[in-house]
Amino acid sequence: MSEPILEVTDLVKHFPVQVGVLFKRTVGHVRAVDGVSFSLARGETLGVVGESGCGKSTLAQVLMRLERATSGSVTFEGRDIFSLRGQELRRLRRDVQIVLQDPYTSLNPRMTVGDLVGEPYEIHADVAPRGERRRRVQELLELVGLNPEHINRYPHQFSGGQRQRIGIARALALRPKVIICDEPVSALDVSVQAQVMNLLGELQTRFDLSYVFIAHDLSVVRHLSTRVAVMYLGKIVEIGTDDQIYEHPTHPYTQALLSAVPLPDPEQRGRREVIRLTGDVPSPVDPPSGCRFRTRCWKAQDLCAQEEPPLVDRLGHPSACHFAEERPRIVPTSA
Ligand SMILES: Nc1ncnc2c1ncn2[C@@H]1O[C@H](COP(=O)(O)OP(=O)(O)OP(=O)(O)O)[C@@H](O)[C@H]1O
Ligand code: SF4
Ligand SMILES: [Mg+2]
Repeated sequence: MSEPILEVTDLVKHFPVQVGVLFKRTVGHVRAVDGVSFSLARGETLGVVGESGCGKSTLAQVLMRLERATSGSVTFEGRDIFSLRGQELRRLRRDVQIVLQDPYTSLNPRMTVGDLVGEPYEIHADVAPRGERRRRVQELLELVGLNPEHINRYPHQFSGGQRQRIGIARALALRPKVIICDEPVSALDVSVQAQVMNLLGELQTRFDLSYVFIAHDLSVVRHLSTRVAVMYLGKIVEIGTDDQIYEHPTHPYTQALLSAVPLPDPEQRGRREVIRLTGDVPSPVDPPSGCRFRTRCWKAQDLCAQEEPPLVDRLGHPSACHFAEERPRIVPTSA
């Protein structure tokens, strides 16, 4: 594998929980991201999957340097992003872009598509001379499959999928190297999801982009991801290649998430085991001792409450379970 473009080491982001209006007191911390490590290779897509509230967007915000980390490090092309200043910080703001879930709220309804897609050139004026911007924006619209003649239209005149294309065009304007995709297709219909995913795949090949692709559903990221990280309550519980995560998962949480993903073969569909997780996700303010998944895990034993299982290689790839093992997805037919 080539040298990583993005490297995340022991990343922690805690938000203080405060009470009082005039005299604020901190009574605890939301442990939104709690010791996350991974690397992203050039041209690679790392899928990040987990239920609502597990810390995916917080991770995205820290990677964008929109939130400061509580501890740990993030390096982009070998340099710590939190120590960048001046020109170097401007360069980071060009090289790493984000595409957000909801095109309705992430686009200003009073700006035309041309203004929205061209806005990054206002901040990074050196990238495109003023006289050239309109042409560039039209080129970008064409690149993402929109009609360049619609440059003067407003976001409400487009469908959800088209609005997401506008968001992607805007993210591409400064020719970034990395795009953090925070659930970019979650609000779209399944058929439109596939079109937007295909577009992201084409753009990746064409511009050698690296993606961190966040989703709450394992089936969404499969198509695009070279590797997948599964998150639970602020931590990665399993990480591996497409084949390791989808065909040979060893963590009970991954197995449960995967059991809800439709199987392509209708013959197998009726025979697969669906694991229903009971109970709610515990609060990230006061996570369970030991393994955080233990309150919902059907395999939990005393050890799970006492010792936190580290994310280490078990049966071929990293998994944070004391009792990591493969589990057949298809219930064998009795002969
Ligand atoms: N600015 C903030 N202040 C306090 N707590 C926060 C803040 N941002 C996020 N949190 C909390 O951190 C935890 C992780 O939130 P986050 O938005 O990162 O989850 P997520 O995985 O993106 O969820 P979703 O799938 O719903 O988008 C949640 O408990 C959330 O309430
Ligand atoms: S460590 Fe224990 S509780 Fe955690 S996932 Fe493994 S078996 Fe379940
Ligand atoms: Mg989120």
